[in-house]
Amino acid sequence: MTNAFEDFLFDDGVNQNWHMQLSERVALMHVLGRVKSEVSLEIGTFQCGSLRPIAAASKRVITFDIDENQHRISPLFPNVKFVTGDSAQTLPPIIEALNSGDEEVNFILVDGSHEEDGVRRDLIECIKYVPKRRPTVILAHDSANPAVRAGITSVPWVGCPYVHAINLDFVPGMLYDRADINGQIWGGLAAILMLPEPRKSEIDISATFEPSRRALLEKSVYN
Ligand SMILES: C[S@@+](CC[C@H](N)C(=O)[O-])C[C@H]1O[C@@H](n2cnc3c(N)ncnc32)[C@H](O)[C@@H]1O
Repeated sequence: MTNAFEDFLFDDGVNQNWHMQLSERVALMHVLGRVKSEVSLEIGTFQCGSLRPIAAASKRVITFDIDENQHRISPLFPNVKFVTGDSAQTLPPIIEALNSGDEEVNFILVDGSHEEDGVRRDLIECIKYVPKRRPTVILAHDSANPAVRAGITSVPWVGCPYVHAINLDFVPGMLYDRADINGQIWGGLAAILMLPEPRKSEIDISATFEPSRRALLEKSVYN
């Protein structure tokens, strides 16, 4: 279901079955417009919601999902390779192949496992990619959720010389009062900027939502 405002904001067909807040969709579209991605990676295909804009803005996409049923509309996406299986196993060989090839990865969405270990593992794998000529932007969804945030913040970021900036709250999340997730905190996009040259100073880290997030935690089911 979309509304008139969303219909105005997005091109036909782009805004369907997309499991993100409107602010996250707009932010993701802006990043895609900036990076002009050659190859994009998406961990967490689900119903191809975020895949639609990623595929429309990228030359080629590789999307990963553990559940083969999430690939049932794959014929609609001629420039997308659908990979089925746990990203713990399926992502590493693809990162390795991309590192040894000439194609550039300019955009990655991490939205697969929402367990702390799974998020950390996916991100650690993503930053093994070495940017070649242009920047790579990684967006990690649900960065306000306690498990996801713990996964993101426990990545040994300083060990990767190509990570220059991290904005944990590029888009903030929220405390939900929806029946199925009442009292839970979800949403938010963390943004990680990788550049082709090694950084010469500390990583620029920002987490502007943190005081609000702590206040929300007091009211949440995690308290
Ligand atoms: C929140 S949904 C993705 C939503 C989608 N990015 C969107 O915005 O429209 C998360 C997806 O990740 C998949 N997933 C969960 N754990 C995974 C894993 N370990 N490896 C690959 N995919 C996984 C789930 O099957 C599910 O389809």
